[in-house]
Amino acid sequence: MADDKSFGEQFEELDDRPVARETSPSLAELWNRRIARRGFLAGMGKAALLASASPAILSLAACDEAPKADPGGIFGFEPVPHGVDGDHHVAAGHDAGILIRWGDPVLKDAPAFDVRNQSAAAQLAQFGYNNDYIGFVPLPFGSGASDRGLLCVHHEYTNDELMYPGYPADNPAAFYTREIVDISMAAHGGSIIEIMRGADGKWQVVRDSEYNRRLTPLATQMTLSGPAAGHPRLQTNEDPTGRRVMGTFNNCAGGITPWGTWLMSEENFNFYFLGENADPAEAANHERLGVPGSRSYPWGYFHQRFNLAAEPREPNRYGWVVEVDPLDPASTPVKRTALGRFKHEGCENTITKDGRLAVYMGDDQAFEYLYKFVTANKVQRNREENTNLLDEGTLYVARFAEDGTGTWMPLTFGENGLDESNGFTSQADVLIETRRAADILGATPLDRPEDVEPNDLTGKIYVALTNSKERTETDAVNPRPGNLWGQIVEMEPQGGDHASTAFTWTLLVKCGDPSDPAIGAAWNPETGENGWFACPDNVAVDAKGRLWVATDQGSGWAAASGTADGLYALATAGGKRGTARQIFRTPVGAELCGPCFTPDGTTLFVAVQHPAVDGAKNYKGFERASTFDDPATRWPDFDPAMPPRPSIVVITAKNGGPVGG
Ligand code: FEO
Ligand code: CA
Ligand code: CA
Repeated sequence: MADDKSFGEQFEELDDRPVARETSPSLAELWNRRIARRGFLAGMGKAALLASASPAILSLAACDEAPKADPGGIFGFEPVPHGVDGDHHVAAGHDAGILIRWGDPVLKDAPAFDVRNQSAAAQLAQFGYNNDYIGFVPLPFGSGASDRGLLCVHHEYTNDELMYPGYPADNPAAFYTREIVDISMAAHGGSIIEIMRGADGKWQVVRDSEYNRRLTPLATQMTLSGPAAGHPRLQTNEDPTGRRVMGTFNNCAGGITPWGTWLMSEENFNFYFLGENADPAEAANHERLGVPGSRSYPWGYFHQRFNLAAEPREPNRYGWVVEVDPLDPASTPVKRTALGRFKHEGCENTITKDGRLAVYMGDDQAFEYLYKFVTANKVQRNREENTNLLDEGTLYVARFAEDGTGTWMPLTFGENGLDESNGFTSQADVLIETRRAADILGATPLDRPEDVEPNDLTGKIYVALTNSKERTETDAVNPRPGNLWGQIVEMEPQGGDHASTAFTWTLLVKCGDPSDPAIGAAWNPETGENGWFACPDNVAVDAKGRLWVATDQGSGWAAASGTADGLYALATAGGKRGTARQIFRTPVGAELCGPCFTPDGTTLFVAVQHPAVDGAKNYKGFERASTFDDPATRWPDFDPAMPPRPSIVVITAKNGGPVGG
């Protein structure tokens, strides 16, 4: 790791390093499945099943039966050209406004943001840093509303060098105090904000909403449930029960369940632990997950639980999926151990043919795996009956065969070597050491699995493999050595059933510049010189079933593409399949996260993360690392007294129609 990179840049790049070691369902079926899903929502909310299902039928009919000049049905806008500068850009015919930024009030008693006099108490009531996943829960729940709802937002990590005046890049250790660490902890986690669209079409945060909430690793008590809860390996001095844990951090992509809860992933949790591990029995487990990080946040100097010498089992309480009920501000979030422990990227989910929930999850590190969890029981219409649905089920890991088929292999104690012969004494052990269990099953190491998105209109699943520059040996699903650009995998479960353990797969695109044969990119030949992209990360499917891809090239953007990160619409069907077009471009140094549509597709929320940070030294005319006083851009305020601020951007079409036409 080069010394001239900021902590934030180095932190992200460590993802790149490995740790040692049939046909589409019929339209009738699709309708039935979609209606079933909406029916769950309706039954749990105030709308009647029929009222909710009918518009779904109509919109599907309109989508699938209308004659199409553009079979991909995707490009109702002119592309934003490639490039890089200090501002964001959105396609003509659209507006892009700031909804909320780091430091803005979330709780009704939040103080105004004073960046030079920040406190942990203030930050606990204000919007956190580095917004990542965005989920939208319509209000009233079950209504399918597109003009009022709750936004559930992850704050993945902090760029301390841009948050604090006087931060000494050459000697940061001397800078930290308990208060500074607590501010950074309070800027992690998540935010829930109620938002409304006014008569003028503009979205605003409802400042006095009772739903507004911050979740942080500093002050939000959570519980652990499922097969590993209470296990001795989860017990610490602070929590002898192994069932209580303070907060969550490094939450990346995520998901919203059909019953309206929010699934928060825990990704690079290893970079928050330091010190010498005091428990030899956990040594191999910690090593497999990179604990402690090669460079970690200094929290452990002020909070003993992040010091491995004092609390060697504390890391076992992170790396899970947390379920939060945004509709109950007093609810206690629950870490669902049945979904496994690894560097969880996302938790997008869908319904199996028999009505259970399937959750798709990437483990984002080089040569790690793709997972799926299927609940044992069916999703119930009364949301209260789903309270513990995620505690029972089967966790699977994917093996991709060279011939375009694949298998989901169960990570079940007592089966296929997941037993005492390999050091597992219970399902809790299998879940705590999910990666090692998956190694034993022969799962396929992938080029950093980021977000995974089911498309309910087709039954297909899209996996963003973002890049893997250290790959030397290739296979069909990871076909390029030194892969700086990534690829998108399209999977189809056998029989169109997400409960099936068999699937087929193909590569939708191989990313990178198609004009350079050495890169080996694969796009539809119609892809224009501004249409291709590199490093797919968060993905979304809109109301029309179109795939939208946000990119994160990290500090390697200049080598990967030479253009800033952005959001691209990507055709998945018809003659334009494999063609992309950019709708939004970030300011220099940012990655794009979030993409999240309202149910009617007329609003698109995106999260601009760490503006001014990544690869600032490759930004022509700037060519140095950004600091609080000297950032590559002061987006979005462009106030000489304000540093850059990660922010949520709202994109709408000027004609009031769906974003992207
Ligand atoms: Fe947090 Fe894998 O991106
Ligand atoms: Ca991500
Ligand atoms: Ca990322």
